[in-house]
Amino acid sequence: MAEKHAEEVAELHYIHTKSLIQELGRRMCIIFYKNALKSKNNFGYVYVENSRVMGFIFGTVDNSKIFNNARILIEICLGLIRKPHLIKEIIFRLKGTETGAPEGLYSAVDQNCREKGTGIKLYKALNQGFMERGINYFESRIDADNKAALILRKMLGASIKEEFYEHNKKRYRLVTEIRGSQVNHYKLERCK
Ligand SMILES: CC(C)(COP(=O)(O)OP(=O)(O)OC[C@H]1O[C@@H](n2cnc3c(N)ncnc32)[C@H](O)[C@@H]1OP(=O)(O)O)[C@@H](O)C(=O)NCCC(=O)NCCS
Repeated sequence: MAEKHAEEVAELHYIHTKSLIQELGRRMCIIFYKNALKSKNNFGYVYVENSRVMGFIFGTVDNSKIFNNARILIEICLGLIRKPHLIKEIIFRLKGTETGAPEGLYSAVDQNCREKGTGIKLYKALNQGFMERGINYFESRIDADNKAALILRKMLGASIKEEFYEHNKKRYRLVTEIRGSQVNHYKLERCK
């Protein structure tokens, strides 16, 4: 994933990925991807078909620093003016309650491209990305009713470590332990 993909990735994120930045709007998503990729903590992959980004995945080596960028912070503050009811969520994210762990954060595949193996390619690419950075485990947080994402994560070695509630919604914290064989036998076909 490179800066040139930011707008298309942001659009997929805005449409399909429940999260704080999604709630803050399209513009927030664009600014997030344009700036988050400037940090070497963060990385991602896109799946491109006919020159269009049809899927993406985004991860970080340190989940306490994902919003550590002046432009992103300014946009979050502007978002707060537009959506003051998000104050609790924003404070929760900004005060650094996260653990500083590597995390697979966001992913989505275009509706017309689903259930064709695109998600698995992207999730495997993320595993490989962590391995290339010398990291052999990472966390992810997924809604308990997100069957597709849960199955995918488990297929790639994740197990549920914790059940918790966020805004009255049941979620899981999963940990993926990456084994070499899992990623070495996989072709990173068209995932950039
Ligand atoms: C999760 C998501 C990325 C999966 O993408 P995808 O390209 O459809 O996934 P794949 O085709 O690679 O599916 C891989 C496996 O996951 C499982 N799976 C995928 N979609 C499923 C569904 N709707 N129901 C049940 N299982 C599903 C299947 O076991 C599948 O393997 P199989 O086809 O060999 O049986 C996609 O559903 C999505 O974009 N969801 C919305 C955004 C989201 O929830 N992101 C994750 C949280 S950030």
